[in-house]
Amino acid sequence: MDTKQVEEVSTPFITSSTSHSNKPTLLLKLITSMSLISAIIFSLLFFSLSEPTTTSRPLKKLPHPVVILISSDGFRFGYQFKTPTPNIHRLITNGTEAITGLIPVFPTLTFPNHYSIVTGLYPPHHGIINNFFYDPITGDKFTMASHQSKWWLGQPLWETVVNNGLSAATYFWPGSEVIKGSWTCPDEFCKHYNGSVHFEDRVDSVLDYFDLPVDQIPVFMTLYFEDPDHQGHQVGPDDDEVTQAVSRIDGIIGRLINGLEKKGFFDDVTIIMVGDHGMVATCDQKLVFLDDLASWVEIKTNWVHSYTPLLAIWPPSNYSYADVVAKMNEGLSSGKVENGNKLKVFLKEDLPERLHYADSDRIPPIIGLVHEGYKVEQSRTGNKECGGAHGYDNEFFSMRTIFIGHGPQFARGKKVPSFENVEIYNLITSILNIKGAPNNGSDSFSQSVLLPNA
Ligand SMILES: *[C@@H]1O[C@H](CO)[C@@H](O)[C@H](O)[C@H]1NC(C)=O
Ligand SMILES: *[C@@H]1O[C@H](CO)[C@@H](O)[C@H](O)[C@H]1NC(C)=O
Ligand SMILES: *[C@@H]1O[C@H](CO)[C@@H](O)[C@H](O)[C@H]1NC(C)=O
Ligand SMILES: *[C@@H]1O[C@H](CO)[C@@H](O)[C@H](O)[C@H]1NC(C)=O
Ligand SMILES: [Zn+2]
Repeated sequence: MDTKQVEEVSTPFITSSTSHSNKPTLLLKLITSMSLISAIIFSLLFFSLSEPTTTSRPLKKLPHPVVILISSDGFRFGYQFKTPTPNIHRLITNGTEAITGLIPVFPTLTFPNHYSIVTGLYPPHHGIINNFFYDPITGDKFTMASHQSKWWLGQPLWETVVNNGLSAATYFWPGSEVIKGSWTCPDEFCKHYNGSVHFEDRVDSVLDYFDLPVDQIPVFMTLYFEDPDHQGHQVGPDDDEVTQAVSRIDGIIGRLINGLEKKGFFDDVTIIMVGDHGMVATCDQKLVFLDDLASWVEIKTNWVHSYTPLLAIWPPSNYSYADVVAKMNEGLSSGKVENGNKLKVFLKEDLPERLHYADSDRIPPIIGLVHEGYKVEQSRTGNKECGGAHGYDNEFFSMRTIFIGHGPQFARGKKVPSFENVEIYNLITSILNIKGAPNNGSDSFSQSVLLPNA
């Protein structure tokens, strides 16, 4: 709160008005009423100015804003309190944070979410509707290693940046190796995915870009880390291994901050740290088996495009999809199927609107939503396993991740309400002051989060 600014505004108002009066009693009355009025004005100003009191901070060394977008995969909201995370907390303390976390898109899976973050589009519009899916016309399979441009719709930020005559650098991000539009995935600025590259080496490569002449430093950079998702799947979110992975990510963030400080760029650079989704514990008792529905409808394994947590079923076209849905739900709600009440099946067009998961012919016609922490399998295998999963309804708090923005256009210590990750595209184009492509973020969002320009 900048009280100095308030005083400057209100004091001249009192002095100029009181100087007009000449009769002592009138003067007294005037002073009383004027001070009442000024008190009211003061309080009005106080409240209006308790919004951002400052404007964005000018760049000291860079000729253009630079954004580093960092993803820590599966960084569930709340992990930042598991263990001391001094570096992440430096960003929080002097930056802007989504107070109750960042809301992923549905399905809360890695590829759909990373690509929503960089396109501002819900999955049906950017095309990456799952980590694995089929082209409904050709039958071609999309996997996480597919780099043909036909899969990847929309305009990712690296392409937007190049369209605006600037340069971008990607150190891993789903979709970044796809040659599309003006983005050629140039050798010097586009790293090909290799999960064995040490996190430290990824940070050091990004830091090296700051040794370029300032007008050649890419204005948008991505950094991706597989942890703590990796550990979360294996042992669940509340295991000590996850705590250690969080601590290690914090150290990696520290390496980036210190490197930027040494080079004198930390105050100029905008760091946006996000995750793609959260993580919830799963265990062997929390299972629903499709074979248990056989007396209502037989679900063949080759109909099932994905089991869990996103159940996606595509029966042959001589079946009535509505009939399959009705029979599945009849079985599930009969009380005779183990955990049947934990799964509900929908025609995709009947899914709740808020999930934005219908408007693509890549999405199979039948979608099942399973309760938090439950899993769907074809049949009993007898395998006992506990671990962690994500992919559930994005309404579950356990699926939330983090958003922290630190840099010249983010207020220090500001907290904003939770928002969906499709807002990030417009936020970054606003920071970079470039023109973006149409997307599903709202126009007013950036204004509500960023400091006004000086
Ligand atoms: C926040 O920024 C101020 C001003 O640059 C600085 O003095 C302070 O050390 C920073 N705090 C943290 C926790 O980094
Ligand atoms: C992946 O990275 C590791 C570690 O840097 C390296 O040893 C390996 O050669 C790389 N693999 C490929 C295919 O580039
Ligand atoms: C659909 O076609 C398959 C193979 O031709 C056949 O086995 C199945 O019984 C048919 N189902 C219905 C509901 O017509
Ligand atoms: C999302 O954006 C796409 C592309 O601009 C548009 O076609 C679609 O209608 C939007 N959907 C929603 C729910 O805003
Ligand atoms: Zn992920």
